[in-house]
Amino acid sequence: MVAPRHINPAPLARLLSVAPMMDWTDRHCRYFHRLLSQRALLYTEMVTTGALIHGDIPRHLAYDEFEHPVALQLGGSEPQDLAHCAQLGQEWGYDEINLNCGCPSERVQRGAFGACLMLEPHTVSDCVKAMKDRVSIPVTVKHRIGVDRFESYGFVRDFVGQVALAGCEVFIVHARSAWLKGLSPKENREIPPLRYEVLGKLKADFPNLQFIVNGGVEDNAHIEQFLTQGSEVWVGLSDSGDSGDLGHLSDEPRGKEDVDFQGPIDGVMVGRAAYHTPYMLSEWDNIFERHSKITTTHGVQAPELSPEPLRTREEVELAYVEYMHKTLQEMKANPKERSNPNQTASYQHMSRHMLGLWHGQAGARRWRQVWSDPGLKHESVFKRMELATQARLNASVIEAA
Ligand SMILES: Cc1cc2nc3c(=O)[nH]c(=O)nc-3n(C[C@H](O)[C@H](O)[C@H](O)COP(=O)(O)O)c2cc1C
Repeated sequence: MVAPRHINPAPLARLLSVAPMMDWTDRHCRYFHRLLSQRALLYTEMVTTGALIHGDIPRHLAYDEFEHPVALQLGGSEPQDLAHCAQLGQEWGYDEINLNCGCPSERVQRGAFGACLMLEPHTVSDCVKAMKDRVSIPVTVKHRIGVDRFESYGFVRDFVGQVALAGCEVFIVHARSAWLKGLSPKENREIPPLRYEVLGKLKADFPNLQFIVNGGVEDNAHIEQFLTQGSEVWVGLSDSGDSGDLGHLSDEPRGKEDVDFQGPIDGVMVGRAAYHTPYMLSEWDNIFERHSKITTTHGVQAPELSPEPLRTREEVELAYVEYMHKTLQEMKANPKERSNPNQTASYQHMSRHMLGLWHGQAGARRWRQVWSDPGLKHESVFKRMELATQARLNASVIEAA
């Protein structure tokens, strides 16, 4: 298979992105998300350097050109291995390389990367430098605000400062600490409190760096709060309402009065909400447009653009069904090619990504049940869509009665 090459000359817009999520944001999921937003930056699942160096490269790196802009997230801690993999990512046409410094899983800890890398800022700095020396696309870092007992603001500030010295300009901050002992990865996304105000402090201390907020963002109204309001509002959005629980640490941001950055954040990354309620992405291009006007520099007003028409749920469903059909046909035509990235695609594997499409709408549950029904696996995807739509419409009539 020939590696796709894509040159993206425009600087990457990071206002809104979908988070890297293992087993979730595979290429099919990204294709589905791209149907909903042309401008969101999409991230791959984390791919480890070991998987790329010893494994099947096309299987891990192949994607559809339609997915751009798309960032490759790497997991690893050995600078030269990461540099080699970043170069592969660039050759395959990815728009950004991101280093995972936030994953708390035990498997990742055994490999000495992910969140535990935050304890070794010099290593991260070496990794970023090695990658930046090898590629011309942006190299970014996704991290937490602390690890285990290292929860003071000074810890994350020094981490960012050290990594920035290596030339990293964009930091995606999952606004929770990682507790490496005793919590599962799932609990690590829920139990450590969200402290968005740390981003305000970082932005104030490093005004020339870009900070993207991540963690607990639930809907577009929540996104708008980050994009329009200064960090004094983020304090109120945090789990504690203020950061008094950590106020004993002298360099902690304690609350509104200590958070001196006044502007909106540089971007918002959404994980679980984007997956479970994907139709929220259909509003994102409009949000991009509104905010690119607001943030136009030097007071120059961007020309008035007519907003993209929103795709309806029906249109998105049909487009994704056509994609599933095409993918399954390709797989059938080429069943022996081991490196075919669609080799493992099944209709269940692909259709699960769209199960949230009708979330909150009448008949959504019946629609989901039909798409998840293993008894229908011999039907074509078009037939399944017909049955699911019928079930949804019937259920909505009953619900309305
Ligand atoms: C199923 C799942 C898999 C994840 N895999 C990754 C991953 O591969 N790399 C990573 O940096 N974060 C991963 N995360 C964390 C998310 O990127 C994100 O930081 C986290 O879910 C918080 O954002 P949210 O509250 O918007 O979901 C994963 C999260 C979920 C739910």
